[in-house]
Amino acid sequence: MSIGIFDSGIGGLTVFREVAKEFPEADIYYLGDTARVPYGNKSKETVIRYSVEAAKYLTGFGIDVLIVACNTASSYALDTLREMVDIPVVGVVHPGVEMALRKTKNGKVGVIGTQATIRSNSYKKLLERRGIQIFQKPCPLFVPLVEEGIVEGEIAELVVRNYIDEVVRDGIDTLILGCTHYPLLKDTIKKLYPEIEIVDSSQAIAEFLHNENLTFSGRGSRRIFITDESESFKKLKTTLVGDIPVEKIELSEICRV
Ligand code: DGL
Repeated sequence: MSIGIFDSGIGGLTVFREVAKEFPEADIYYLGDTARVPYGNKSKETVIRYSVEAAKYLTGFGIDVLIVACNTASSYALDTLREMVDIPVVGVVHPGVEMALRKTKNGKVGVIGTQATIRSNSYKKLLERRGIQIFQKPCPLFVPLVEEGIVEGEIAELVVRNYIDEVVRDGIDTLILGCTHYPLLKDTIKKLYPEIEIVDSSQAIAEFLHNENLTFSGRGSRRIFITDESESFKKLKTTLVGDIPVEKIELSEICRV
C-alpha cells in the first residue's frame, strides 16, 4: 500500500514528515515541483495544470491515496484531480478546518496563506458554513524567508508581526497556518502569540488520515522526486527529512508522452 504526496516544492516535506511518522510501514512517494515553485502567485488555471501533471506522475507508481500537501493546489485543483484519478485524493484544507473547529473557543479564526490560497477563499467558505468568523491574511514574504532558513530571530519576528499582528488584533483565538512552509515558523509565531492556538496543516492531515482508520502496509520505502535542484532545497530537505536521497525528474516531458 502506498501514498503519493505532492507539493509545489520543498515545503510539503512538512506534510511528508508527519505522514511518514503516522504510517511508518507505508511506501511513500513525494514529488516537489521545485522547477515551477511558487504556485502561490499563479493563476487558478496554471495551478490546476501543474497539479494534474504532478498527479499523473505519482499515480504512475500505483499509489493508493494521493495527498495534495500544497495549500494552493488544495484550494484550486482538488475537484479536477478527483475527477481525473480513481483513488482517494486528500487535500490539506478540510483537515485544517476540522482541527480549527476543535480548537477555537470564541469562534474567531485567522487564516494565513499564499496570495492564491487566500484569494480562493477555500478556508473561508468551509469555516463560514460552520458559523465561524474568519480573518484572512496573505503572507507573501514567509515562503522566501523560510527558504532562506530565516525562521527565528529578529528578522523573522519582524516579518511575522508585520502580517499576524493585524489578525490577532481582530480577536482570533486560533490561527490556521495555511501553507506548507509556515509550520517552520511555528516556534516564532508561538513565541510572539502564546495565547493563540495554532493549526499546523501538516499535523492536521496526518491526524485526519489516522482518524479515517487507513492502514498502509508496505516496506516503509521513501522516494523523493524534484523537478529542479536548488541550494535552498538541499538545506531544507536535510532539516526536514535528513538524508533520504532525492531523484530529479522532468515532469513536463513525462506528461507529454
Ligand atoms: N506549497 C505552497 C502552499 O502551501 C507554498 C509555496 C508556493 O507558493 O508554491 O500554498
